[in-house]
Amino acid sequence: MQYGYFDDENKEYVITRPDTPKPWSNYIGSAEFGGLVTNNAAGYTFYKSAAQGRLTRFRFNSPPSSFPGRYVYLRDRETFKHWSNSWMPGAPPIEEFDYECRHGTGYTKIKSGFQGLESEVLYFVPPNATHEVWKITVRNPGDADRSVSVFPFVEPQCNWNAEDDGTNLQYTQYIAATAYEDGVIDIGSNINMPTDPEHFENKDQARHTFFALDGADVAGFDTDLECFLGAHGSYAAPQAVVEGACRGSLSAGDLPCAAFQVDLDLAPGEEQTFSVCFGVNEVPRAMDIENAFAGVKQHWHSRLGELKVETPDAGFNSMLNVWAPYNNLMTFYWSRAASMVYAGERDGLGYRDTLQDLVGSVSLIAEESLECLELMLTGQYANGGAMPVVKPFAHSPGSEGPPPHYRSDDALWLFNAVPAYVKETGDFDFYTKVLPYADQGEASVFGHLRRAIEFNLERSGAHGLPCGLHADWNDCIRLGEKGETVFVALQLRYALREYVEIAERLEEGAEAGWAREQLASLDKNIEVHAWDGEWYLRAYRYDGLKFGSRENDEGSIFMNPQSWAVLSGHATGDRATQVMESMHNQLATDYGVMICTPPYVKTDPEVCLGRLFNPGMKENGGVFNHTQGWAVMAAAELGMGDRAWEYMRNVMPASYNDRAEIRQVEPYVVCQSTHSLFSPRYGAGRLSWLSGSAVWNHVAMTSAILGLKSEYDGFRIDPCIPSEWPGFKAERMFRGRKLNIEVRNPNGAQKGVKELMLNGEQLSGTLIPGDLLKDENEIVAVM
Ligand code: GLC
Repeated sequence: MQYGYFDDENKEYVITRPDTPKPWSNYIGSAEFGGLVTNNAAGYTFYKSAAQGRLTRFRFNSPPSSFPGRYVYLRDRETFKHWSNSWMPGAPPIEEFDYECRHGTGYTKIKSGFQGLESEVLYFVPPNATHEVWKITVRNPGDADRSVSVFPFVEPQCNWNAEDDGTNLQYTQYIAATAYEDGVIDIGSNINMPTDPEHFENKDQARHTFFALDGADVAGFDTDLECFLGAHGSYAAPQAVVEGACRGSLSAGDLPCAAFQVDLDLAPGEEQTFSVCFGVNEVPRAMDIENAFAGVKQHWHSRLGELKVETPDAGFNSMLNVWAPYNNLMTFYWSRAASMVYAGERDGLGYRDTLQDLVGSVSLIAEESLECLELMLTGQYANGGAMPVVKPFAHSPGSEGPPPHYRSDDALWLFNAVPAYVKETGDFDFYTKVLPYADQGEASVFGHLRRAIEFNLERSGAHGLPCGLHADWNDCIRLGEKGETVFVALQLRYALREYVEIAERLEEGAEAGWAREQLASLDKNIEVHAWDGEWYLRAYRYDGLKFGSRENDEGSIFMNPQSWAVLSGHATGDRATQVMESMHNQLATDYGVMICTPPYVKTDPEVCLGRLFNPGMKENGGVFNHTQGWAVMAAAELGMGDRAWEYMRNVMPASYNDRAEIRQVEPYVVCQSTHSLFSPRYGAGRLSWLSGSAVWNHVAMTSAILGLKSEYDGFRIDPCIPSEWPGFKAERMFRGRKLNIEVRNPNGAQKGVKELMLNGEQLSGTLIPGDLLKDENEIVAVM
């Protein structure tokens, strides 16, 4: 079943039915001021922080997840019929309702036709603004005069603190005070208190939001929620809309709202446009909406222009030309703060999450990525471990106190993020840049990397493998401080390999030698203690209990140690093929590769906390999408193009565009996990948008499948594609140079470039040295 299509030309996904299986959402604005909007106009808005600066209310846990939203109600003043532009919350008969929703880059436009009238609402946040704009157009396509009342509505919170507003009602229901003047509704919170601009997190201070109307006369307004909805009304049929008249209510405590009534008379063929703005700080006056909207598109499109591809797969093209990089950027900007599932109560950047997000963002927004990378490096302690969460506004390098606990993988993700940045930009001097540690002292970036390695070496257990500490990448595996993790051992191997290369390039021979020795002894320990006969173990608990072994009835094989054995370079040749086969045979499903199998149902939850999830979900044997890119990358590493493509196709959102009833969530963005075959909801995706999957899918598509890789010395073209692809074309910006790439695959190969031409000259190998590149380059690679 299909609910929409990709409009690549306009960089939009167009939803053609309002009754999608789940709310299909989008983001508007920035982390400074922004929010979520679904295809039914549901969602919420926040300023600076979804936890401390929540401006509008959203009721989580209440399917169909549409309440409340940025509704625009309409009412025909002759027939008294009423509805909403976004179909919900009234949900009139779908066959009578024309509908189109365009989710674009930083904006959403919902258009509808009902009762012989057409309306359209465009939602966006102008660049750098602290308000959102709803541009509302109503059209009379018929041949008789029409009179219609239009009611834009929003539901501000009583208190900007999300948790208090939802729970501490004996306080928050007495602090709202609203006022109306000259087309502007002022929604005050705690207005009798002083302001405290230095302490955003102080929830007991005076603050204001506004809802302002522009371009039409105010026929009425309401600012008290119960007056607008009616004591026995509903969002679907607010009493003011049903009766066709706002009451001019002011809130005095209780719950505020902000709604206008605009009465329009439309001659045949006539359309009228006006706007409302909701936000904080200055009320915008005489705004140039078209210009502001063009600015939003320009802002995002300029960040998505690094790569354009033309492959034989339309879904892959739509993902890579728009949605994969956009999803990666949104994940980078919003971290895991706020979505339709992340309820916005967390602040800060998860250390491991953000370092991974950076791997994909560096090619799109190098400067912003650098700023964030430096922030994260200063979140590393002098002992090499990392703060689990870095709070950008409160972070103070040099004086951070010790963390509640360390995770074993956190700082090792530096070996993915830092080289990705340097390879993309060519800024090799970054390795010698001196940055402070979180607690005390400072070191060059190279020094920071060394400490990260030492941190794990110093915390190794009985088998010479890194200890699990509070957790490794998997939040649900409980190894105890002295338990050992094979996944982190493989990460450490990856880190050492990267370190050797950096040290050699810095002409730090002794360092390279040191790292090589560590690598050799780690390899030995992995081989002796982590090889289980057909695949690699996942971990040892503090008491020696194995995870991911044939000896286990549950969780007898885990995915990550297999893909990472290949990615880290530990498993090569036949061994690499063998682990990939084990992974495939035991864990691959039609909807992705499972994180482990069989799921935990009997094992003591002290051993695997994943057991708290139902079997086949999330960390308990679900398809954890974060890890899927690693499977694709490992398959590509071994030249298995058909296999890499199979894995990618099975998890790629666009693959489900015409089977949306299976995956249910948005076909244009990733989701954190998919129910695996152990769940009765096999194939259903959950938790869209903000996930490490956004990054690793993006990276696997570009660097593993298309094989377009930025390296220290230049740009490599080393695709690993399905044998049935006759080739592909790509345009890539690299260090300010344009690469027009054509890959030809006349013999149905999966990997291996036999001939590489740069501007008509033949090169040997697959690397194009950076210094041979002109401003614009024609590159042909023949497989
Ligand atoms: C979630 C967390 C991430 C963790 C993963 C696996 O995606 O955000 O930090 O690594 O789950 O448990």
